[in-house]
Amino acid sequence: MERAKIVVATPVPAVVVERLRERAEVTDVSALPRSEWDAALADAAGVLVSSTFPIDAAFLAAAPKLRIVATWSVGYDNVDLAALAARGIVLTNTSGSLTETVADLTYALVIFAVRNLAVGLNWVRSGRWMQGNMPLGHDLEGATLGIVGFGTIGLALAKRAQISGMRVIYSNRNPRGDDATTGASYHSFEALLAEADCVVLLVPLSDETRGMFGDAQFAQMKPTATLVNVARGAVVDTDALVRALQQKTIVGAALDVTDPEPLPPDHPLALCDNVVIVPHVGSGTYETRARMAMLAAENLIAFLDGKEPPTRVSA
Ligand code: DGY
Repeated sequence: MERAKIVVATPVPAVVVERLRERAEVTDVSALPRSEWDAALADAAGVLVSSTFPIDAAFLAAAPKLRIVATWSVGYDNVDLAALAARGIVLTNTSGSLTETVADLTYALVIFAVRNLAVGLNWVRSGRWMQGNMPLGHDLEGATLGIVGFGTIGLALAKRAQISGMRVIYSNRNPRGDDATTGASYHSFEALLAEADCVVLLVPLSDETRGMFGDAQFAQMKPTATLVNVARGAVVDTDALVRALQQKTIVGAALDVTDPEPLPPDHPLALCDNVVIVPHVGSGTYETRARMAMLAAENLIAFLDGKEPPTRVSA
């Protein structure tokens, strides 16, 4: 029987490629430029991709036999869902495999933001410490953390923040109904902006959330507040963020994601004194990235075996 063909289009640990080879013929194109993938894609039943590469009509046209796309990420805003649905192609992600890791990084950014540590880092580098002390930050204890998009990562973040004595509020499309258990209270988006000392963005990028944070939202925040974005860069209007940081509409920001990515070092956002930026590494540990890649492989294998993939994205 002819073995199904899988294309690996993003660098994953060797053990993951070996696991796929137990079930399929695997072509690893991850080290090649996109212009050299088409020969492998022509016969592929499945692909393993990351969230940085567009899975759009052009990509699908090069893969006429494709039946499953497994993305090595939770987010899938890079995928044209309508184009996949039109061909009946299944999509899987790696949901559930990175919750604690992303919550850790987010918590670190919350601490950086609330304690004004971006300014602190730059204070030392620019020599201003020689002239005097940096402007202070705030206590986490007693401060209000506002989480926009309160799912599993939000819950894991809330637990960490509550240990520091933070009050947690959240906004979602609807109240979760478990506020008594989580200790976090539902607020409208507008009420959250007005009350939070630190606003954390955890919403997926969609037509509804693209650019949901702009000049009007920064103006509604407290002038002493900070913004943390670990969702997707495009949830925030970058020009508005630069204005808010330069004009001190808010005190500062801590970002795992930016728009654009990667962010050039001379971009106005990168040059702001009151922002700390890390290069989209929320899930970026050896352990978690390996777990995510293996889950993507298990999704492909389950599908080829005619079983339900463990983390299929429902339409
Ligand atoms: C995710 O899993 O969506 C991370 O942001 C990596 O893209």
